[in-house]
Amino acid sequence: MRLLAIGLLLALPSMAMAAAEPNTQVPSGSRYYAATAVPDRIVASPSVDPSHGFAVAWRTNGSVQSPLLEIARADDTPAIEGIVQVRAKTQVLQTENGLSHHHRADIDGLQPDTLYVYRVQGNGSWSAWNQLRTLAAADQPLTLLYFGDTQNKNVSHVSRVVRAAQKAAPDARISLFAGDLVSGGDDMDDSEWGEWFAAANWLAQETLVAPAIGNHEYFEEFEDTPQERRVLGRHWPMTFALPGNGAGAAAGTSYWFDAQGVRVAVVDGTSALDLGTAKAQAQWLDKVLADNRQPWTIVLLHQPFYSPREGRENAALRKVLLPVVRRHRVDLVLQGHDHTYGRRGEGQAATPQYVVTVAGPKQYRLSGQARRTMDPVGEDTQLFQVLRIDPQRLRYEARTVTGRLYDAFELRRDDNGGKQRVEQQEGRIAPRDCARAQTAKGRTDRCWE
Ligand SMILES: [Fe+2]
Repeated sequence: MRLLAIGLLLALPSMAMAAAEPNTQVPSGSRYYAATAVPDRIVASPSVDPSHGFAVAWRTNGSVQSPLLEIARADDTPAIEGIVQVRAKTQVLQTENGLSHHHRADIDGLQPDTLYVYRVQGNGSWSAWNQLRTLAAADQPLTLLYFGDTQNKNVSHVSRVVRAAQKAAPDARISLFAGDLVSGGDDMDDSEWGEWFAAANWLAQETLVAPAIGNHEYFEEFEDTPQERRVLGRHWPMTFALPGNGAGAAAGTSYWFDAQGVRVAVVDGTSALDLGTAKAQAQWLDKVLADNRQPWTIVLLHQPFYSPREGRENAALRKVLLPVVRRHRVDLVLQGHDHTYGRRGEGQAATPQYVVTVAGPKQYRLSGQARRTMDPVGEDTQLFQVLRIDPQRLRYEARTVTGRLYDAFELRRDDNGGKQRVEQQEGRIAPRDCARAQTAKGRTDRCWE
């Protein structure tokens, strides 16, 4: 009997690990993430020129209409003085958690490289004073974070990736997300958004969050009928206060901004692939990159030009948008969607470098082609990326959730305007492969879900 009990105890941990868990930690039917009079889901995003301004989105219940944002120069005293008020615009959203009001305030006229405090208003309440430094001139060093899909189990599994990234790069000023922040894909994903904000925590308030939209931020209308089509999820335009300078055909889901020597252009891959806007976005991107006077260029989009996953081929992206990326010698193309890690370039050229990565726990498998054409590659690994950029160097690091170095290289500008890529092998851990034959739900084409 005693032996049997010990046997059971030994067996229990592995049984617990194997069981599939729900996508959120919210019990079914719970309205844990319902909006209240107290502001929540507060997120700052870059304006076109984040050295002089930024924008903030937040949420309350329906009792708050056109609330205020207050901003002042940060000082060491708790007596905050010189407060400027900005009135927000409000939109209404109805979800499984009830009615919520989503607010957006745009702040401009700020001084570059200056630490500010800001707070946002609810009904009879204010948020915390958050600290955010405006970006500096192009010759100052800049640190960015880049995350692949978070998508699933945001509280359970993504939160530790965000915390690890913050500890690895406490000086990060911008956080790039490559789309599929949540999995919902329909109107029942409000609790998932609640979890995303719980996971992002103060990264959302004290860095400038610049997300690309993923296919899961769209939903399928008239699914499995001839009229089936992709429709933009209602959360996206209300959740983030993004620049309104995108392609006309993908307004609100494509945009660009300049950040301390880097032009960042964000493309809507889902719209390009499924809504026929690839050509319109390519023309827009061509103009955005032609006008670029910054020394570095990053293109951020969800679906990769070169997919590391078996059977995925984003032909419209390759055919229509990739020539623009090549023509303008974009330095980094940062992507997600395929729930693996893979990096490649074009032959021996220093740039562009195309990266696919994943932050969340959903893990796919690499194709044979990816293993032949990308280096390094990885499966079964939650990652974050740190980019450190100055006018002469762009240093890229991918780290695992436990902080170990997985991939690293540096791009260096030479005197002739050219660029060299220096690979850093030292300190990298060995490439990781999926060791499981199937997932807890029995899928053999995935590694974990
Ligand atoms: Fe995706």
